[in-house]
Amino acid sequence: MAEPDSNSPQSVPRHIAIIMDGNGRWAKANGYPRHQGHRAGVKSTRAVVEAAAERGIKALTLFAFSSENWSRPSDEVSSLMSLFFEVLQREVDALHENRIQVRFVGARDELSSRLQKRLQAAEELTADNDGMQLVLAVAYGGRWDIVQATRKLAERVEAGQLSAGDIDEHRLAAELSLAGMPAPDLLIRTGGERRISNFLLWDMAYSELYFTDRLWPDFNADDLDLALEFFAGRERRFGQTGDQVANRAEVTAGD
Ligand code: FPP
Repeated sequence: MAEPDSNSPQSVPRHIAIIMDGNGRWAKANGYPRHQGHRAGVKSTRAVVEAAAERGIKALTLFAFSSENWSRPSDEVSSLMSLFFEVLQREVDALHENRIQVRFVGARDELSSRLQKRLQAAEELTADNDGMQLVLAVAYGGRWDIVQATRKLAERVEAGQLSAGDIDEHRLAAELSLAGMPAPDLLIRTGGERRISNFLLWDMAYSELYFTDRLWPDFNADDLDLALEFFAGRERRFGQTGDQVANRAEVTAGD
């Protein structure tokens, strides 16, 4: 994962991460069972993927299923897994035609082998696409990610390839699931909660956080534009002072 480039103030985020929350409440409010809320959420997902690609976003990471979601009632977990399988089958060709590159992050070995195969097939089909990167976080947790990265480094230390003193932020970041991608510039969370909920804990150190009460099935391209407007109005300091940032912007403008 690349560090944020503090020399290039930008008004459009390169990478957006989204916590798609509120499907269950949307279903309840509309008198449907919860799984209908998830189905309605798929429509928003499609609309937002399309809108993000149109607006030139380079990467979009969606929190589809968290490490903690396994503790939901088993019928909800299995209906979500079936939905992911079905959606992948149905949407992958359209994603490919739009040159979108699909990737999955999360504990794949916790998923059924048929879903793992489908995820891998989608990744392989779209691997060489040069359009937006779409990352689906499934069975993902930010703590899980840091632990799996740490374990990889520990294995290299055990194998004598690395000494403990060599471990730094750069080496740890290189083992995280989003290694090689720019860090998310903007996090959007729908559904009214103002939490990060174990999403990309390391990667979001400097992300701008945008919370909206809109439930995910109601979230559309106009809502995405509101989030983009919010982002464009933020001053990103990356630990510097406001004056330093203003001077930097002048220098950049004069370049
Ligand atoms: C949160 O709603 C949403 C999820 C658990 C993720 C599922 C997301 C989808 C089905 C959207 C489609 C995604 C893909 C990748 C096809 P919630 O159940 O937590 O809502 P609640 O907080 O109102 O109960």
